Amino acid sequence: MMKARGIALNLILMGLPGAGKGTQAEKINEIYNIPHISTGDMFRLAIKEGTELGKKAKEYMDQGALVPDEVTIGIVKERLSKDDCKEGFMLDGFPRTIAQAEALQDILRDLNEDIDYVINVEVPEEKLVERLTGRRVCPTCGTTYHLVYNPPKEAGICDKDGSELIQRDDDKPETVKKRLSVNIEQAQPLLDFYKEKGYLVTVNGDQDINDVFHDIQSKIEK
Ligand code: AP5
Ligand code: MG
Ligand code: ZN
Repeated sequence: MMKARGIALNLILMGLPGAGKGTQAEKINEIYNIPHISTGDMFRLAIKEGTELGKKAKEYMDQGALVPDEVTIGIVKERLSKDDCKEGFMLDGFPRTIAQAEALQDILRDLNEDIDYVINVEVPEEKLVERLTGRRVCPTCGTTYHLVYNPPKEAGICDKDGSELIQRDDDKPETVKKRLSVNIEQAQPLLDFYKEKGYLVTVNGDQDINDVFHDIQSKIEK
């Protein structure tokens, strides 16, 4: 295991909505045990807690739009500065704009850190709507399921803690379409940015969840 070998692994997970970033982050965490930093999860938590950040983020998320860069960059900077990130980290859903990617370069430089891999989980666009509308999540522990592709043992109930599963607000069909188009537009410039820097690895996300994980593992353990 990376940690046992004393190597801090700094990863970025990229991919369109529904590509499987969160699902793979859960699997990576089981093995490598590095902090999973999902800006989407951080915003959802803030919404649940009713904070100012949550109120601001909700306006954008409900419409499938991106939360403004200055807000998003601020929370990531704060999170990456915490001690646990010295042992490695996994960013999920950040950066999503070139401005965010450039800010991240500065943040990491100040922390004396660097990115090891940017993992692009690639899935054909036409598969994503079904993945998103069939997704169910546990409100207690955050585990992600799918009605067809990754169902819980008992329908509607989390395997880990028995909570009743819910659907994310932005997984309703109208919002899904908007999210996809916004993210498709932003994706290519970011992939080019990281490709040029030599960080980018691409995995085929259109296969069984465990096979995707296996491919990620074989790339990061090289
Ligand atoms: P965020 O929460 O990051 O949403 P997203 O990018 O739209 O990505 P998802 O979480 O929907 O997809 P995922 O790739 O994690 O897929 P998952 O593993 O769940 O962001 C939400 C919102 O917050 C944004 O719209 C924006 O408003 C705001 N935001 C966040 N970050 C921001 C930023 N940096 N800047 C500005 N705004 C920001 O899988 C999906 C489903 O498919 C699940 O049901 C799963 O079980 C299933 N599945 C997974 N893998 C497979 C597989 N291999 N085969 C079959 N099914 C699979
Ligand atoms: Mg996610
Ligand atoms: Zn749970």
